[in-house]
Amino acid sequence: MVWDQVWIDINIATMNPSFSGDYGVIPQAAIAVKDGKIAWVGSRNELPEFDVLATPVYRGQGGWITPGLIDAHTHLVFASHRANEFEQRLQGASYQDIARAGGGIISTVNACRDADEAELFELGRQRLNALAREGVTTVEIKSGYGLNTATELKLLRVARELGEHHHIDVSTTFLGAHAIPPEYQDDVDSYVDLVINDMLPAVIAENLADAVDVFCENIAFNLEQTERVLSAAKRASLQVKLHAEQLSNMGGSALAASLGAKSVDHIEFIDEAGVKAISESGTCATLLPGAFYFLRETQLPPIDLLRQYKVPMVIASDFNPGSSPICSTLLMLNMACTLFKLTPEEALQGVTINAAKALGLEHRVGSITVGKQADFCLWDINTPAQLAYSYGVNPCLNVVKNGEVVAL
Ligand code: NIG
Ligand code: FE
Repeated sequence: MVWDQVWIDINIATMNPSFSGDYGVIPQAAIAVKDGKIAWVGSRNELPEFDVLATPVYRGQGGWITPGLIDAHTHLVFASHRANEFEQRLQGASYQDIARAGGGIISTVNACRDADEAELFELGRQRLNALAREGVTTVEIKSGYGLNTATELKLLRVARELGEHHHIDVSTTFLGAHAIPPEYQDDVDSYVDLVINDMLPAVIAENLADAVDVFCENIAFNLEQTERVLSAAKRASLQVKLHAEQLSNMGGSALAASLGAKSVDHIEFIDEAGVKAISESGTCATLLPGAFYFLRETQLPPIDLLRQYKVPMVIASDFNPGSSPICSTLLMLNMACTLFKLTPEEALQGVTINAAKALGLEHRVGSITVGKQADFCLWDINTPAQLAYSYGVNPCLNVVKNGEVVAL
């Protein structure tokens, strides 16, 4: 066989759902890479003969390989910070109080309108580097801190450029309907018109978004406004997803399901009808333990119902300056288990195979499967559960992205 690279002395958590057993494990395994793709995976003792002199062979010293991690929900292109609001919340103000008083998302909007592309790019690059050191190889980035056409386009352009310049693959989401800008406070429907008739066509013309998202909530957009934006996105053949049922049960999940959404995100307040709806539409449930933790929420997402209805659960950082200023996908694995009581295996599925599904990328990434991109990490661990168990000692030894060994 002629390969570009072979890995041995490894165990693999393939996360391939068609493999039997937890984590799709192959002990004492080997992987061969060719043209940026996984060309062979299996037991070391079944590895076909190859030219050992012509092929770089990497030894994993008995460590574990997993698919490259995927953070399927972030808002990581933003300027400034909101530490002042953190202090206000510790004095008793709620996230909603701050938003209603014109702070919250709007304060980041003001900072992003003032920031230039170079500054936003550099901030985004540093944040991607932090995720990359933890083995992340694919990231979703939303706009939504512009709330006018020029700034929404600026944020999406920066997100696209980050994807072009960084080894991490970036999937972009247009979230023009993230909050109501002060200019439209008394005429929300006109702002929704602007999102649909002005921003969305411009986003499409420059091919800046892979998906469209809306914040459906009592402090943001109602069900009817959400439906208008997502339907327009669907007509334009963009994927749809939704910030749904984060602070109250608005019925957004069932609406998103009826539009074939890839994911509904947060969903602490989703009810059984909503879970049933997303189960029937094949929509993923994206759980965001960082926001739950940082806002000190108490309403847990209904994990048992999601399991009962076999809804694919995704775990993401929601990295943003207001509700989850936490730039760590690995920490989310731990929080998904400690706060939401997922098993470490479910948590790892949430940042690999299920996260790939939520981005519509499951044919390319998310598991160690022949034909998929050679995106994987080598970890200094003895069992995959260690990835969720411990935090702060980064066990990521090596990352391979599209078949290239990445210097971290
Ligand atoms: O996912 N829910 C809406 N959007 C973000 C928060 C954004 C912010 O506060 O800046 C979220 O939690
Ligand atoms: Fe979010």
